[in-house]
Amino acid sequence: MKTSRTTKSLITTFGAIAALCVASNAMAAPSGLIPLPAEMKMARGHFQVGNQTVVCVTNPSSQGTADYLKGLVKALRGIDLASGACGTSTITLDLDATAPVEAAEGYSLTVTAKGVVIQSRAEAGLFYGAVTLGQLLSPDDHFGQPVTLEGLSIKDYPQYAWRGLMIDSARHFLPVVDVKTMIDQMAQHKLNSLHLHLSDDQGWRVEIKRYPNLTRIGAWRTPPSNGGPGVPTEPYGGFYTQDDIRDLVAYAAARHITIVPEIDMPGHAQAAVASYPEIGIRDLRNGGDQPTVSTDWGVNPYLFNTDETSLAFIRNVLDEIMAIFPSTYIHVGGDEAVKNQWEKSPAIQAQIKALGLKDEHELQTWFIDQLGAYLNSKGRRLIGWDEILEGGIPQTAAIMSWRGTDGAIKAAQAGHDVVLSPTNPLYFDNQQSRRNDEPAARGWVVPLEDVYKFDAMPAVLTADQGKHVMGAQANLWSEYLMSGWYVQHAAFPRTDALAETLWSPKSTRNWKSFLTRLPVQMVRYRQQNIGASDAAFAVDFTTVDGRNVALASGKAKLALSNQVASGVIRYTLDGSEPTASSKVYNKPIDVTLGQTVIATAFTKDDLKLAGPDRYDFTAASLLTRTSQELTACGKGALGLRTPLTPDSPAKAPVYNIDIFDSCWMYPEVRRDGVTSVTIDIARLARNYGLANEASKVLTHPRNTPFGELVVYRDTCAGAEEARIPLTNPATTPNVTTLNATLPSVTGDHALCLIFTAPLDGPYYAIDTVRLNQK
Ligand code: ACM
Repeated sequence: MKTSRTTKSLITTFGAIAALCVASNAMAAPSGLIPLPAEMKMARGHFQVGNQTVVCVTNPSSQGTADYLKGLVKALRGIDLASGACGTSTITLDLDATAPVEAAEGYSLTVTAKGVVIQSRAEAGLFYGAVTLGQLLSPDDHFGQPVTLEGLSIKDYPQYAWRGLMIDSARHFLPVVDVKTMIDQMAQHKLNSLHLHLSDDQGWRVEIKRYPNLTRIGAWRTPPSNGGPGVPTEPYGGFYTQDDIRDLVAYAAARHITIVPEIDMPGHAQAAVASYPEIGIRDLRNGGDQPTVSTDWGVNPYLFNTDETSLAFIRNVLDEIMAIFPSTYIHVGGDEAVKNQWEKSPAIQAQIKALGLKDEHELQTWFIDQLGAYLNSKGRRLIGWDEILEGGIPQTAAIMSWRGTDGAIKAAQAGHDVVLSPTNPLYFDNQQSRRNDEPAARGWVVPLEDVYKFDAMPAVLTADQGKHVMGAQANLWSEYLMSGWYVQHAAFPRTDALAETLWSPKSTRNWKSFLTRLPVQMVRYRQQNIGASDAAFAVDFTTVDGRNVALASGKAKLALSNQVASGVIRYTLDGSEPTASSKVYNKPIDVTLGQTVIATAFTKDDLKLAGPDRYDFTAASLLTRTSQELTACGKGALGLRTPLTPDSPAKAPVYNIDIFDSCWMYPEVRRDGVTSVTIDIARLARNYGLANEASKVLTHPRNTPFGELVVYRDTCAGAEEARIPLTNPATTPNVTTLNATLPSVTGDHALCLIFTAPLDGPYYAIDTVRLNQK
């Protein structure tokens, strides 16, 4: 048997999943399959795949799948497969209407000494078999070398029909090339539904030929000001032409992915109303006006009108949308439509009365029903966010539940089809850890394991009600995902966990097994230049007895760990990057002030999992807290991890903020010998639409025109230790450093840090707080 050393050793290491397989001989199962197939048996024999191994089809219609497989194997493994006639020693793609597999998406895959045979009743199943083969052939980074496949028999099919991701092209426009990268990765994860969020307050992103202003005006916005010099003035934006969409739809279809478009209505409509004020609330004295495209994230007040002018406009838009998106489902939004404009508009109130409706919520249901009936008349189906249940379930609607799972449960119990995308854990725009290298994101932590443990089937549903659960999707809202790299970083590897929860039978799902298969997938990401996050495996450093004890004694026991408690951590103390022969970490290490620890997690077979990560054990680092290490004062904190510039596609510095209160706690620290504080701050645009929540933003009294950063001892009601005036934003750089002397105190004390800058000016954020000893 010819097997490269690395391949062989990986197979041994990751053989943990053999426990999940019914092994007919002593051989271990392959290592890098995600999602795990439904059934898998090892068998006798083996088959070598290398350059010129032939891929053949028994039906010419499968040639696209054969070509896809060739491209995949070339990209993942550097092997050039050939096309040719089926025979012995070929990879055979056999489309057979009578194949003994689950319908449509199911497939079987066998590896024997005679070759590989993938069978399915439909092209989709053959395609998924090809994806599995691509994974079998890429267990390591031995690019270009032949692979010996062990004898194997797989029968596979998905648990859920809707396996999706949502990309928000509205908040930050994602160019076609980046959407294609995401489609490629979705295909490699056997996901089949790409929901494109194409309109919102901050941008309209699809060409509608009948209404050119939607993209002439609605696709562009002027960046928000942070009050200072050097604010970008170039409009930010972009949109997909109808040709772009046709290209994307075809690209996705070739990978058995349906693109579901979303036009968000009646709320999140500001870009549309900015383009065509006549479809908004036109009574200027009663809540309506002509807005510009918003730069405020959150909830903005502009709603579509529900009169015939507006409905005719929407039908025309939907006609063009349906012409370019062949999907059965058309998403019409329905989320976060604060009803203030409808409440204030006499015309809307008259319409509510004339229709015999109770209130604005019932009007929303009526409005959604109008759209649903229209879509039905064209052979399509409506899907909307769970708010559309608030005025009674629209007859024709399927529900996408984001505010937890209650909406999905209620709708499924009432006989409506549902898709789950609850904020926790399926809002992938949340950060993945509390590490300092986390990029911009929403502020909650949604770790990999939470995604893995998510079960799309709510336990309260009966078997019959459960049939309405079509599946689930993760959402990549893009307020803080400013480019393809950010989207990839947020999506991967959490999408691996999502894919397995949606594809693999519950009985085979196992977190530990998943972790043994993920390292190979991380190699695939590196191979394909995908910006996957390594937060799960990166090494974190903790002083076992706390930083104050370390500060007092000048030494500490340092614990090294990673989020998923997986892999072998190796470290150095001489400043060099750890290698596969560096010391293995197995218990807390003794360090003294001045030492530097560098650590990296590897697999048992020396595959690097993340890092290296560095920790400088110094008095200065023990006295420093980054914004990730400060805690928000506010109980109802709306935590965000925001970039310095809201629209920069480049990697930018990031700051944790709480949009309701610019107040932060530095946890208790040993103050002996501390004489001053140095605080790096950043001035950000205050670009948040808070609708009815705006009055909850706390203001703090100031003594000078631009406010101050005030430092209190122990609590925010404690002794004022420093009050550092902020200077005129118009002439102050975006990033500055504040210094103040601190009174001499001993013992452990917390600090409260409050910005008193006025709410109609920029938002100030803390980067790091450093306490200085003499
Ligand atoms: C949503 O997050 N507003 C669907």
